[in-house]
Amino acid sequence: MSNNLDKAEINYQGKTSQFNIIKSSEGANAIDISGLRDKTGLITYDPGFQCSSAYKSKITHIDGQKGILRYRGIPIEELAEKSSFVETAFLLIYGYLPTNDQLNLFSNRLTEHSILHEDMKNFISYIQQHAHPMPILSTMVSTLSIFYSDVFDLEAREEKISDFDVNIVRLISKIRTIAAFAYKKSCGEPFVYPRHDLSYCANFLNMMFSSPVKPYAIDDEVVKILNAVLILHADHGQNCSTSTVRLVGSSQVNLFSAVCAGICALWGPLHGGANQKVIEMLADITKSGKSIQKIIDEAKDKNQPFRLMGFGHRVYKTYDPRAKMIKKICIDFLNKKSIADPILETALKLEEAALKDDYFIEKRLYPNVDFYSGIVYRALGIPTNMFTVMFAIGRLPGWIAHWKEMNETIPHKIGRPSQIYLGDGLKHFIPMDERKILI
Ligand code: SDX
Repeated sequence: MSNNLDKAEINYQGKTSQFNIIKSSEGANAIDISGLRDKTGLITYDPGFQCSSAYKSKITHIDGQKGILRYRGIPIEELAEKSSFVETAFLLIYGYLPTNDQLNLFSNRLTEHSILHEDMKNFISYIQQHAHPMPILSTMVSTLSIFYSDVFDLEAREEKISDFDVNIVRLISKIRTIAAFAYKKSCGEPFVYPRHDLSYCANFLNMMFSSPVKPYAIDDEVVKILNAVLILHADHGQNCSTSTVRLVGSSQVNLFSAVCAGICALWGPLHGGANQKVIEMLADITKSGKSIQKIIDEAKDKNQPFRLMGFGHRVYKTYDPRAKMIKKICIDFLNKKSIADPILETALKLEEAALKDDYFIEKRLYPNVDFYSGIVYRALGIPTNMFTVMFAIGRLPGWIAHWKEMNETIPHKIGRPSQIYLGDGLKHFIPMDERKILI
């Protein structure tokens, strides 16, 4: 394939075909292969979509070599330090930082929409007590499309906003309440309703930890940390769950259903489910008393399934900038509260050993966003099985932003990847009495 300025050429079976180069504003340019099959009869093969893009996006830029992550051009380091999760959600979804009035209106709408329909609350109360909160979250988010169907939306009309905008605030606000109710269900405590006098994160913490016998004392330090950690999870380009939201959403199904699919994808241990697996792994290692070097050796051993959870990344081939910030937040908070967590000690020793090990160096495996996030959640009192729920709450603005961007893209194409067929050629039906056992 030879490149001239804005074209790429493919020479195949004696024919040269030209393809346009799409220039990015940051990062890799792309070959537009939308005409590849017509021109050459070929399709492409790219397991895991490592070098393929299906979308043009203006939301998030990641430079995996330099460890850069920017939302709408703004470095996450600045947002985690200076912004709030609600303000960052607005930035991701609408593409600009809101004025004070716009932010207050957005925040007030989130407060107005924080309560769940009583039938949804009753639905959660009938779910089996020891259910993992992630399927509760995906089920109840999908259920929002029952209670807020596409039919004439009275609340949107009353608020004089679009159906889309009212569903954004419903989803961002209610996901907190659903998450907190799922937690209360798991510990057999009564649900705590949202309050109109609390900010987004303070409201979530209060719904999680307040009880009829012991009100929760809002700690501004804890609220600040939760805002920062949710900001650091808010978007990450075309990761597995965001691509799922786009693909499911490309059929023009409603936002709630597309996000439900994203929550299901996020639960996987290779993706957002890793934060729970990291803590379970660190706890096992700490309890086992195994040497750190033995753990590193096991992680490298191809003959066993053990991997160092929270390490490695498809895009980052250097330290994940989010992991760097979450690690600092974690150490600073534990020191400030004089919390000595042996899990953190194990994590720090593992990181130190791995970053010196030739295998991890050669494969450029560094801590990712999930390596330290669970330790922060533990310090905030959030139980392990709620960690991926926290990831989902954080990632929701990113999912919504990508769903919105896709739906505003013209022409709107339903997603349908091709395949390389390796199955049998033409065969015919065999009557039952003529069939032989083949294996
Ligand atoms: C998230 O995409 C995103 O942006 C995701 C995310 C987001 O914000 O949305 O950043 C969130 O999902 C973070 C990742 C959380 N998952 C984990 O921590 C699970 C452990 N990590 C690995 O499973 C793996 O690193 C992945 C899944 C994260 C990335 O997988 P890739 O890009 O498909 O890479 P790979 O599995 O092909 O690994 C390349 C090599 C392999 O060795 P070889 O076959 O070349 O000999 O590195 C090895 C792997 O075996 N390797 C590891 C390892 N991760 C990769 N070896 C030991 N321990 C690990 N953790």
